[in-house]
Amino acid sequence: MSQKRIAIFGSTGSIGTQALDVIKANPELFSAEILTAQSNDELLIKQAMLFNPNIVVIGDEKKYQTVKAALAQTSIKVFAGEDALAEAASIDCYDMMLAAIVGYAGLKPTLNAIELGKPIALANKETLVVAGDLVMQKAAEKRVAVIPVDSEHSAIFQCLVGEGRNKIEKIILTASGGPFLGKKPNFLVNVKRDHALQHPNWSMGAKITIDSATLMNKGLEMIEAKWLFNLDAHQIQVVIHPQSIIHSMVQFEDGSIKAQMGLPDMKLPIQYALAFPQRIANNFPRYDFKKPGTLTFEEPDMKTFRNLALATEALYKGGNMACVMNAANEMAVFAFLRNRIGFLDMTEVVEQTMNKIAFIEKPTLQDYFDSDAEARNFAASLLHM
Ligand SMILES: NC(=O)c1ccc[n+]([C@@H]2O[C@H](COP(=O)([O-])OP(=O)(O)OC[C@H]3O[C@@H](n4cnc5c(N)ncnc54)[C@H](OP(=O)(O)O)[C@@H]3O)[C@@H](O)[C@H]2O)c1
Repeated sequence: MSQKRIAIFGSTGSIGTQALDVIKANPELFSAEILTAQSNDELLIKQAMLFNPNIVVIGDEKKYQTVKAALAQTSIKVFAGEDALAEAASIDCYDMMLAAIVGYAGLKPTLNAIELGKPIALANKETLVVAGDLVMQKAAEKRVAVIPVDSEHSAIFQCLVGEGRNKIEKIILTASGGPFLGKKPNFLVNVKRDHALQHPNWSMGAKITIDSATLMNKGLEMIEAKWLFNLDAHQIQVVIHPQSIIHSMVQFEDGSIKAQMGLPDMKLPIQYALAFPQRIANNFPRYDFKKPGTLTFEEPDMKTFRNLALATEALYKGGNMACVMNAANEMAVFAFLRNRIGFLDMTEVVEQTMNKIAFIEKPTLQDYFDSDAEARNFAASLLHM
C-alpha cells in the first residue's frame, strides 16, 4: 500500500487522537494532511508540530492568531471559522477523510469531501442520522466509499466482506448498556453528569458517553446502520451485551450468523477503516478465550431508556424526524453536561421537540438544515437557553 494522506476532521477528539496514534505507528502507510479542532488550540498546535500537515483549521475564530503565531515558522496553512472547516474539505490535498467531528457540525465537511470524490472513514454518525439518504446518494453518485469507524458498524462491515449479493436477514447491533444497565427511573432521576460520564468499557468524548448512558447512542447507530447498509427498519435489532466483546453481528437469509469480536479498543476499527481493504499487524491486547469469562445477552429496557424507543420511532418514520431528534438531543446533552437539566429531562426535550417540528417526508438538504435549526430553537426554548 502506498502512503495514504489522511484529513482528520476533529483531530483533537477521542477518535482524532487515536487516529493520530495509528498514523504515528504506521508512518510508511499514512500521513496527516489536514487537522482540525473547534477550540482546543493547544492540542491542535502540538499535533501540527508533530505531524506537519498541509493545513490546520480551528473552528473558533478567536483562536486564529494563537495558532497562526505558533506555526509561523512552518509552511502549514492555518484557517479559522465554521466556513473554513467546510471549505478545507474541498481542497484536493488528501486521499481520505476521517470524519471525527462530533455532532451535526460534521455534516458539511463530509458532504464536501464526498463532492470532491474522497473516500470517508466515518466516525461522525450524526452525519448519517441527519441526512443519511442524501449523503449515501451523493456517495453513490460520486462512487465514494463510506467506511464505518463506529465499532458496531465496522463489525457489520467486516462480516459483509466477501458476501457479495448474499441477502441480509437482519443485523444485530450489540450495546454495552452503559453505566446504568439494569437501573430504573427512580435511580436515573438523580443521576449527575460526572456519574454519567463514566462508561464501563469505552473511553470516549463527552457527548457520545452521555448518549451511551441514555441509550440514544444505540438509537443513532440503528439509523446510521439503515443508511450505511441499505436496510429496512425491521432488519435492525439491538441486543444488550455488557462485555462489549462481540461488536455486532449479521444474520444472513440462511439463518447463519457472523460476528466480529475483539477487546473494546477504538484503534482497531479506526485502523481497519484507514487501511481497508488491508489489515495492519499491531500489538494491541488480544481477547483470551482461556481466561474465565461469560458473554451474555439481553433485551434492552426501552421503557426505562426511552431515548431508544424515540430513536426507533424516528427510524421507522423516516423523513426529517431523525434530524429533528438529533438536534434536540445535541441541545439536551449540552444542557445536561452543564448541569442545567436532569438525566431524564433529556428524553423529555427530545420527545417534545419531535412532537413539535413539522414532519417532512422527503426533505431536501435545505430542509434538513432548516429542520435542524428549528429543532434547536425549540429545544433551546424548552431549556431556557
Ligand atoms: N469516541 C469514540 O470512541 C467513538 C466511537 C464511535 C463513534 N464515535 C463518533 O465519533 C465522533 C467523534 O466522537 P469523539 O468521542 O471523538 O468526540 P470528542 O472527543 O468530543 O471530539 C470531537 C472533535 O470534534 C471537534 N468539534 C467539536 N465541536 C465542533 C464543531 N462545532 N465544529 C467543528 N469541530 C468540532 C472537537 O474539537 P475540540 O477538541 O477543539 O473541541 C474534537 O476535535 C462522534 O460523532 C461520535 O459519535 C466516537
